[in-house]
Amino acid sequence: MIRLVPDQSQQIRRAAEVEFTFDGMPVRAHVGDTIAVALMRAGHLHLRDAPQDDAPRGAFCCMGLCQECVVRIDGGLVESCCEAVRDGLVVQSLKVSAP
Ligand code: FES
Repeated sequence: MIRLVPDQSQQIRRAAEVEFTFDGMPVRAHVGDTIAVALMRAGHLHLRDAPQDDAPRGAFCCMGLCQECVVRIDGGLVESCCEAVRDGLVVQSLKVSAP
């Protein structure tokens, strides 16, 4: 028998919202989210292309080991799973056809 409990999702208090851009598109997230999590929640799974064959790559380990989630921020390469979102952040993918 499954015990049904009331929906308690309304009781979850989230941190303040911030907005940043990913390849020029606005993405909303909560303070404390990593960039990778915010992008996944917004449906952006393709973060870069593999250097050998341009195959699409995205977050895999989500703990800073695989480098699959690397994006460009302020001209530098950053593991998006290890970097927290900030309001006004400009994030660029490493796609071959990126804008
Ligand atoms: S997902 Fe593996 S380093 Fe970010």
